[in-house]
Amino acid sequence: MSSRVRTAVFPAAGLGTRFLPATKVIPKEMLALVDKPILQYGVEEAIASGIEHIIIVTGRGKGAMEDHFDISYELDATLERKGKKELLALSRSISSMARISYVRQKEPLGLGHAVLCAKDLVGNEPFGVILPDDVIDAQPACLKQMIEVFEERGGSVLATETVEGPAISAYGVLAGTQDSANERIFNCTGMVEKPKFEEAPSKQAIVGRYVLTPRVFELLEKTAPGAGGEIQLTDGIKALLKEESVFGYTFRGKRYDAGDKFGMLQATVEFALKRPEFGDKFRAYLKGLAL
Ligand code: UTP
Repeated sequence: MSSRVRTAVFPAAGLGTRFLPATKVIPKEMLALVDKPILQYGVEEAIASGIEHIIIVTGRGKGAMEDHFDISYELDATLERKGKKELLALSRSISSMARISYVRQKEPLGLGHAVLCAKDLVGNEPFGVILPDDVIDAQPACLKQMIEVFEERGGSVLATETVEGPAISAYGVLAGTQDSANERIFNCTGMVEKPKFEEAPSKQAIVGRYVLTPRVFELLEKTAPGAGGEIQLTDGIKALLKEESVFGYTFRGKRYDAGDKFGMLQATVEFALKRPEFGDKFRAYLKGLAL
């Protein structure tokens, strides 16, 4: 088994019901955050993390994702003819961004099942998982930070956020203890999916980045459907915990839930404010609103 994390799996076959009606025809992962599909932010994060092969788990009606990372001859030819060099370079840079493979999840049977669909393409080596609707603004890239922890500790790593109060009930929550040597690392002994606030075992909520050992595939194959009739990734990781070390890691950076309307609005405002071309203009505009 190679111990290097070379591959990242992007589960992107969900129905995106929280973002209807926009997601009736357009995949959630193709919704633009300012001017870039949220999927591309994830792909850029993977590349910045040293990932060499990206596997996107797609489903019905999700062809736009494949087209986005493909060469667009008509667009490129038109831009070339019109002398729009910068836009042409932009379009070409997207199609040569990374080695991307696609695998279909025939039915959205859950996140664990989506990850399992990538088993043959990943092979017997550790891999990253990026949920593209969690857009993470971090320096260094969130997955890169996690791969460093994986390399140092040798066990699977789950990205976490410290969530105060009843909001914790929306997440998978870790049980365990903070590491004595590194306060960002949490030595995981268990996890509970969407606990009641009073029953949450800690404040460490799991978010959309994972570094996993390939053993999880075999365990997911044996995982029965759990909450909501779906094969849950957390159930597979719970089984992994019985055999191997699993760590929570509070990454340095900020996460936006761009699969949710409000989260997308927050991300849009904050990413737009950071854009050199129009950040100042946008700030002035916001300040001028009678709020
Ligand atoms: P979500 O929980 O956000 O589900 O999935 P969803 O179906 O995409 O969206 P809502 O909740 O209905 O609005 C988290 C990630 O897992 C993928 C999704 O595409 C998303 O990136 N996923 C989920 C799959 O690939 N397959 C599944 O069966 C379920």
